[in-house]
Amino acid sequence: MTTSPYPLKNLLGGLSPERFLAEYWQKKPLLVRQAIPGFQGLLGQAELFDLACRDDAESRLVRTNRGRWTLDHGPFEPATLDSLPRRGWSLLVQGVNHFLPAADRLLHSFSFAPYARLDDLMVSFAPDGGGVGPHFDSYDVFLIQGLGRRRWEISAQTDLELVEDAPLRILKRFQAKQAWELEPGDMLYLPPKYAHNGIALGDCMTYSVGFRAPSSQEIATQFLVYLQDKLALAGRYADPRLKRPRHPAEIGEAMLQQIEAMIAKIRWKRTDIADFAGRYLSEPKAHIFFDPPARPLGLAAFRQQAEKHGLRLDSRTLLLFKGSHFFLNGESLRATPDTAAMLRKLADARRLEATALPDDLADILYAWYRLGYLHPAHR
Ligand code: SIN
Ligand code: CO
Repeated sequence: MTTSPYPLKNLLGGLSPERFLAEYWQKKPLLVRQAIPGFQGLLGQAELFDLACRDDAESRLVRTNRGRWTLDHGPFEPATLDSLPRRGWSLLVQGVNHFLPAADRLLHSFSFAPYARLDDLMVSFAPDGGGVGPHFDSYDVFLIQGLGRRRWEISAQTDLELVEDAPLRILKRFQAKQAWELEPGDMLYLPPKYAHNGIALGDCMTYSVGFRAPSSQEIATQFLVYLQDKLALAGRYADPRLKRPRHPAEIGEAMLQQIEAMIAKIRWKRTDIADFAGRYLSEPKAHIFFDPPARPLGLAAFRQQAEKHGLRLDSRTLLLFKGSHFFLNGESLRATPDTAAMLRKLADARRLEATALPDDLADILYAWYRLGYLHPAHR
């Protein structure tokens, strides 16, 4: 495996992943000075502004003026962003990891948790004094300081009442209990529902590693959609011993019993749960599209390149597995044991070192390359 430019040991401030998970994860905040020593950021203000003007990026502009908050969603016109005032706003772009391979590497460096728990890397820019106000998030977050400095105030308060009529979630009564000034490369971990407020000290860029925690309702709804396609129940409504009803308009007990018995025939196995989970968790977000190569290499040339330079997953690709069952961008594939061993390496490292590829693996990888799901590593 290639060594990460962001070793976990640094990211967790010297704590072992086991200790971080046992003592901090989903429990209490952790401030890590120099989690990324010498961090310069992965993109500049101008590049972030460019992303905020793209229609395949999710961006938000938060403005505050005399205690009133406004929120606009991108894509933005370059002129809008160029004419922003000197103070009182923050621009946020979600999913920066989809656009920059370096951002994808940073996101996937948080490998103390399964990749399926990672959501995305958001990057914000704010001029002096800017921020999104005191709030809490429903998810874990690692806030990494890029450009400039930011003052983070946090509070374990249980009063999470929000300002009514505000277009974004602002805490009505935020009472800071701890505060730090973060320098480039410093990082603050916050568990879900932890109140916080970040105030830019001069021009400031913050990188937020966000996690994904679907609600039970979301999982159940999606599973029912999945099941609908898989379901094949035999039989049909029948009533050979029908009794003439007193009220023909009434839905009788016998009818309900029969419908209930039909519904009770819906069954699923653990393998269905695994297949559903893999497809669901590897499904790209709705606005994500892949760019298949305009002039694709032929199979033999692709294989030669892959064997010489290795391969890397596209930054938008989600590749997960359960045993030898692989899930790639919402699709599922069962692999033979030898192929599975190499695909697991690709899934974990998100790249495959230059190595000889067996025929069946080369075919699979070539099909994925044609879809834009992966690329020869030197590109
Ligand atoms: C920001 O980057 O300004 C917002 C990060 C957060 O508070 O979740
Ligand atoms: Co937040």
